[in-house]
Amino acid sequence: MKERLKNKLRSKLKYSSNPVFRCVWALFHGAKSVLRVVLIPSVRSQWAMETFNKDRVQQTTQRTWANRYPEIFAACRDFFAKQNKKNIRILSYGCCTGEEVVTLREYFPDAVIVGAELNRDSLRICRKRKCDSNIHFIYSKPENIRKYGPYDAVFCMAVLERLPMEVIRKHITDLKDMYPFEKYNAHLHEIDTYVKDGGLLIAHNTHYDIMDTDLASGYSALGSHGFTGMIFDRDSKLKKDNEFQQSIFIKKTSC
Ligand SMILES: C[S@@+](CC[C@H](N)C(=O)[O-])C[C@H]1O[C@@H](n2cnc3c(N)ncnc32)[C@H](O)[C@@H]1O
Repeated sequence: MKERLKNKLRSKLKYSSNPVFRCVWALFHGAKSVLRVVLIPSVRSQWAMETFNKDRVQQTTQRTWANRYPEIFAACRDFFAKQNKKNIRILSYGCCTGEEVVTLREYFPDAVIVGAELNRDSLRICRKRKCDSNIHFIYSKPENIRKYGPYDAVFCMAVLERLPMEVIRKHITDLKDMYPFEKYNAHLHEIDTYVKDGGLLIAHNTHYDIMDTDLASGYSALGSHGFTGMIFDRDSKLKKDNEFQQSIFIKKTSC
C-alpha cells in the first residue's frame, strides 16, 4: 500500500506535464543523489572514480563473488601445471573487493598474486582481508602494477565493459557514447604490456573481442573457454546478440 502510494507520487511528479512538479522531482532526486554520495562510502568512491578517473575507469559496478569462473580458473591452472610452472606471478586486474584474489590463491597456492583496483573503497575492503605475504592489493596505476610484474597471467574479468546488464536490458546497439571501441583498445594495449611472452591474458565478459584489435596477431586462444554475449565491432556497433567469444589467450613469444 505504502509502496504503491510512493510509486504513484513518484510518477505524478517525474512525468507530470506541470513544470513545477517536474522541478520538485528534479530537486528531490538531485538532493537524494548528493546525500548518497556524501553519506555512503561505496557510492562516494564510485562517484570519485567516475569523476576523477574518467579516462582510466572501465566497468564501474562492484559486482563480484568467490569462484565466479571455475572453468576458466581450472583451465589456467592446468596450463601452468602442464609446464610444471609453480612460482608464477598473477595480476587480478579490477579485483573489486578481493574475492577473485582469494579464489586465485586456492587454484595457485605458490603464486605471487597482485590485485589491482581503481575504486578506493573496494581497495580498502581488500586490504582488510587476512592474506599471506605473497598477496598484494594495490591502487591501479601503471607504475604500481609494473612494480610486481611482468605477469605470467593477467585476469581481466568483467572489467573491459560498461554496465552490461543495462546494455542487454535496453538492447543498446551502439556503444559509441557509453564505452567506445577506442577506449577498450587503448586499455587493452596497456594491459598487454603487463603480460609476459608465453603468458596468459584472460579477458572475460567484455564488449569487444581481442581478435578484432591490432593485438590479435600477438595472441592465440587457449582451448574453447569463453562466454556468450552481445559483442560489438570496431565501430562500436553490435555484431551479434549471442556471439560466443574466447576468453583465454596465450601471448606469443616475440622473436
Ligand atoms: C564488475 S567488477 C569485476 C570484479 C571481478 N574481476 C569479477 O569478475 O568478479 C569490475 C571492477 O573493475 C574495477 N575497475 C574499473 N576500471 C579499472 C581500472 N582501470 N583498473 C582497475 N580496476 C578497474 C571496478 O572498480 C570494479 O571493481
